[in-house]
Amino acid sequence: MKIATASDHAGYELKKEIIAYLSEKGIQYEDFGCGPGEKVDYVDYGEKAAAKVSSGEYDRAILVCGSGLGMAIVANKYKRIRATPCTDDYSAEMSRKHNDSNCLTLAARIVPVDEALNIVRIWLETGFEGGRHQRRIDKILDIEERNFK
Ligand code: RB5
Repeated sequence: MKIATASDHAGYELKKEIIAYLSEKGIQYEDFGCGPGEKVDYVDYGEKAAAKVSSGEYDRAILVCGSGLGMAIVANKYKRIRATPCTDDYSAEMSRKHNDSNCLTLAARIVPVDEALNIVRIWLETGFEGGRHQRRIDKILDIEERNFK
């Protein structure tokens, strides 16, 4: 699995912890910024990573900002992206089982580091259940086809 990571300044420190976790687990990733000490717009970095998943070059993205919300809004502007802001274990699990989330967005200003890393672990380890949930994903893909250029 190839993961694209990105953050703004608010998410930078948490992103570093996530990158350390991915490295420790031997999970392939590439970071699309921002770097340390920068003050940036989350839009610019969320866009870079989301584009890589949308194109199929990367399997999933993990995006970190202060609330996890701006990153989700940006990523969901891309075709084939299902970005889910998760602030707890249950939403992390359900985002995979039911929504086949391919983009996790995290709130560095809300969720403590150890909890965020557990959310990442659950999100990476949990599979999609398919079945009736696939039917719903297909409907979402159909909405994309009708509304995205
Ligand atoms: C930056 O101050 C903050 O607005 C950003 O990290 C994010 O929370 C936006 O949704």
